[in-house]
Amino acid sequence: MKTLLVTGGCGFIGSNFIRYMLDKHPDYMIIGIDALTYAGNPENLKSIEDNPNYRFFRADIRNRNMIEQIFAFYTIDYVVNFAAESHVDRSIKEPDVFLTTNILGTQVLLDAAKRQWRLHPGNKYDRSYRDGVRFHQISTDEVYGSADDGEKFTEESPLRPSSPYSASKAGADMVAMAYRRTYGLPVTISRSSNNYGPYQFPEKLIPLIIINCIYDRPLPVYGDGLQIRDWLHVNDHCRAVDMILHSGKDGDIYNIGGDNEKANIDIVKQIIHTLGKSEELINYVEDRPGHDRRYATDSTKIETQLGWSRNHSFEQGLEECISWYLDNMGWVKRIVSGEYRRYFETMYG
Ligand code: NAD
Ligand code: TYD
Repeated sequence: MKTLLVTGGCGFIGSNFIRYMLDKHPDYMIIGIDALTYAGNPENLKSIEDNPNYRFFRADIRNRNMIEQIFAFYTIDYVVNFAAESHVDRSIKEPDVFLTTNILGTQVLLDAAKRQWRLHPGNKYDRSYRDGVRFHQISTDEVYGSADDGEKFTEESPLRPSSPYSASKAGADMVAMAYRRTYGLPVTISRSSNNYGPYQFPEKLIPLIIINCIYDRPLPVYGDGLQIRDWLHVNDHCRAVDMILHSGKDGDIYNIGGDNEKANIDIVKQIIHTLGKSEELINYVEDRPGHDRRYATDSTKIETQLGWSRNHSFEQGLEECISWYLDNMGWVKRIVSGEYRRYFETMYG
């Protein structure tokens, strides 16, 4: 029986990951923690809330006291840190919380893991840890910045983050690697491309467009709409993180890409056509400042070293995703009527 601490477990990827792990490793104990910011929705985990192998704590990863109490109470083997402020547009408006949560919150977790896992905590130079423990930091391909034509990011590509969000994620990666190098803490990092799938908060492109389309609302497309993202199904991401957790090499970084580059406008049109709506809903709006033109991720390392591959084609994955939102309009309505609507109004008027 292993105990896994998942932070940000009520968000989009974290909630999909917890469901995936309980299904794949039914003997694992999962401790989910989440501050329940606007993006954290306990309803995302309703289907497993009575599972005896799942416990939830409302906790902010910046709250050192609380995080240390959780580490002291449970014998944690693995940490997977999803908790983050995750939306680029919000980071442009309010960068402060991105730096405190994404960098300082990660440091609080690294400190707590180091303290609990160290075999000789009294010796400050001790680099030996309990067997089988690992801290996995969830990063993003956005730390590499905008890709030039023909370029694909490898794990060795330089970090050139453009937004306060991606800069804060790059900062967290650096801190995690510094804990590995200085204190010997067993750390791995993964950098995935843009995810899509069920339970994604509708501030991100795909759920925003699906939901606006359903309600016949304008579909905001930034600039010329020709920016490229590399889309990955959230379940393929979850499977990759599971593989890294169990078979990844200590101290290594793994890119996880969708091998599926699409221009934003093509995605918007695909959703419009699937839902049988009109392209007249498309509304070109002012571009995002510092907008990265293209992301392209090379996943050769995780494919060749860990045997990971994608199970979902984008065409089928997007259709299933659209069906999920249509089948879960209660979930959608509760979000659209709340905080999200106020945010939508300040962002888009
Ligand atoms: P999300 O915004 O849906 O979820 C983030 C979760 O973290 C929310 O539940 C929120 O309540 C929680 N959280 C925020 N601040 C917290 C704090 N201080 N303490 C505890 N919990 C806090 O984001 P997501 O899309 O699920 O992304 C999860 C992780 O994956 C992030 O680290 C993000 O950088 C990374 N990532 C996301 C994508 C993507 O396409 N969504 C791609 C690559 C990497
Ligand atoms: P987003 O989902 O915010 O992810 P990220 O910026 O982290 O890649 O945006 C994906 C792309 O879609 C990005 O190029 C910005 C663009 N976009 C729009 O054109 N309109 C929108 O309303 C949103 C939210 C994003």
